[in-house]
Amino acid sequence: MTAEIVSNSRKNLADILKITEDMNRIKDIDVLLEKILYEARRFTNSDAGSIYLREGNFLLFSYVQNDTLAARDPSANKHIYVKQALEINEKSISGYVALTGKTVCIPDVYKIDENLPYSFNRSFDQKAGYRTKSLLTVPLITSQQITIGVMQILNSRSKIGVTKAFSGSDIMHIIFFANNASLAIERAKMMRELVMRMIRMAEYRDPKETGNHVRRVSAYSVEIFDNWAQHRGMNREEILKNKDMLSIAAMLHDVGKVAISDTILKKPARLTEEEYTAMKAHTLHGAHLFNNPVSDWDMLAAEVARTHHERWDGGGYPGNKPGDGSEDSGYGTGLAGEDIPIFGRIVALADVFDALISKRAYKEEWGEKQVLEYIREQAGKQFDPEVTEAFFRIYETINSIRQFYPDGEG
Ligand SMILES: [Fe+2]
Ligand SMILES: [Fe+2]
Repeated sequence: MTAEIVSNSRKNLADILKITEDMNRIKDIDVLLEKILYEARRFTNSDAGSIYLREGNFLLFSYVQNDTLAARDPSANKHIYVKQALEINEKSISGYVALTGKTVCIPDVYKIDENLPYSFNRSFDQKAGYRTKSLLTVPLITSQQITIGVMQILNSRSKIGVTKAFSGSDIMHIIFFANNASLAIERAKMMRELVMRMIRMAEYRDPKETGNHVRRVSAYSVEIFDNWAQHRGMNREEILKNKDMLSIAAMLHDVGKVAISDTILKKPARLTEEEYTAMKAHTLHGAHLFNNPVSDWDMLAAEVARTHHERWDGGGYPGNKPGDGSEDSGYGTGLAGEDIPIFGRIVALADVFDALISKRAYKEEWGEKQVLEYIREQAGKQFDPEVTEAFFRIYETINSIRQFYPDGEG
């Protein structure tokens, strides 16, 4: 090895250790997958990639990025919310990697040796109008030697942007990186499980707040934020950090309902004035639950629980009402405009959209056209106009999220 190669390799390893440190700070699994894929692609200068996580004998398609497609379409993230399960066997490249634990590196996937057991599935290329050429697929293996998934990166590019094969040094570094990533994934999966357990507890109390409702509200919120923040020129690191906190906080928006009495939560008819006032306190109970000023995550979960029923025009609640909600006497005016924290403004729209468009026991769903008209009409009244614009820019992604987490599952 020449001195230059050795020094480059050292620099790369130091780089990977720094990224590992960043990864270990991320709590939300989806945001973590986004970070892992982004860094693996940056490292190898590759155009696209995806991550599959293992569930039993299948690989579930869990994350995708594609710079070429993203440049063409503001709703390119819709490709993330696609249900696709791949059986683990030798026939597909990812299945083969998951089965054998071997790394597969191919210079041109349209020219795979016919004697190999696997072949390249061209259906995504055909649907999306994309041409995959070089490919590197590595297993995600934990310290206990369990394969938890597969990461695939595509179309490595030279300095002048020409697609080239992955190099030996790319392979070595990506394998090392994938090992660190696997540990972070395991940890984030545990965190997600804990959050979902809290939500299931709340669901026992209020069956309207289903697992998939909160997953949808969280995914809509994260995607709206992503687009809103990009439009404002926020840098990628900042966006990612915020998405991590928002994702979990948005899932927990209504967890304060555990403190509301059953007669109100399960009442099949319209609430009386007094009952409605008591119900409003779920915002304060939720905030009280996460009242921990040492952690950013808790503080933002408290903020979202507290402000997700505020209205842009000031007609929402709970405004500046103090306390943990135990006193049920009236509410004054709500916060207005930018006094409402951005996460609250985003979750407010995501939550209302989902409530209107879903069928629930006590009401029929509205038609899509009617819901979208309502949201457009409420920009500047109930909703932040800028947030509303971001919502419409990525509406295709919102739609994929709806199909990805359907009612009656989760
Ligand atoms: Fe709520
Ligand atoms: Fe909700």
